Amino acid sequence: MTLTIALPKGRIADETLAFFKKIHGESFAFENRKLILEKAGFRFLLVRSQDVPTYVTRGAAEIGICGKDALLEQNAPVTELLDLKIGRCKAVLAMKKGERLDLSKTRVRVATKMVNITKRFFAQKAMAVEIIKLYGSIELAPLVGLADAIVDIVETGKTMEENGLEAIETIFESSARLFANRDSFIERKADILALRSAIAQAI
Ligand code: PRP
Repeated sequence: MTLTIALPKGRIADETLAFFKKIHGESFAFENRKLILEKAGFRFLLVRSQDVPTYVTRGAAEIGICGKDALLEQNAPVTELLDLKIGRCKAVLAMKKGERLDLSKTRVRVATKMVNITKRFFAQKAMAVEIIKLYGSIELAPLVGLADAIVDIVETGKTMEENGLEAIETIFESSARLFANRDSFIERKADILALRSAIAQAI
C-alpha cells in the first residue's frame, strides 16, 4: 500500500528526495510543474511548508516533513518521529541594535509571520503585546517604526546584520522533522517505522 508523504517546496524537499535516492539507488524528482510524484510505493505531495501540517492532520498525507517552526506555529497534533537535522534555523526576538524591550511600556508592538508562537512567548513573560502580522521582509518593520521588535527566523543572520537588527533572545531552535498523522501511525506502524529507520540511516 502506498505511503503518502507531504514535502515542503524548496531545499528541504530536495534534500529529502536525496535521502530517498540514497535509500533506493534511483533518482526521485518531481517532473516540471507536477505536484505529485509516485515512485517505489511512495506518493510525494509538494506543498507550502506551512501547509504540510494541514495535509497530515487532516489525513490527506500519512507522513509529513517540515520545520519544527511550522509544527509549533500550528500546534499540530501529530506524532513526531525524527529530526532530519536539515533546514536548521532559530526563531528569535530581535530589535534594532542596542535597543532592549522597555518593560515599562504597556504594550510592545511586534511584527511577525509566526503569530501563535509570538503570542505564547509573550504570554510566558506576562507581557502585553500587539502583534502585527506580516507575510515577509519582517526585518523592515522596526526600521520604519511599524513595530518595536520582531519575532522571526534566522538562518545565517545576514538579513538582520545588514538591516542593523540584533537578536535579543532565542525562542527555539528549529530543524526539519519527520512526523505522522496520529491515526496512520497506529494503522501503519510497521511501514512508518521502517521508513523512519531507513531515513535515519541515510542522514
Ligand atoms: C527568512 C526569514 C528571514 C530570513 C533569514 O525569510 O524570515 O527574513 O529568511 O535568513 P538569514 O538569517 O540567512 O538572513 P525568507 O527568506 O523566507 O523570506 P520572507 O522575508 O519573504 O519571509
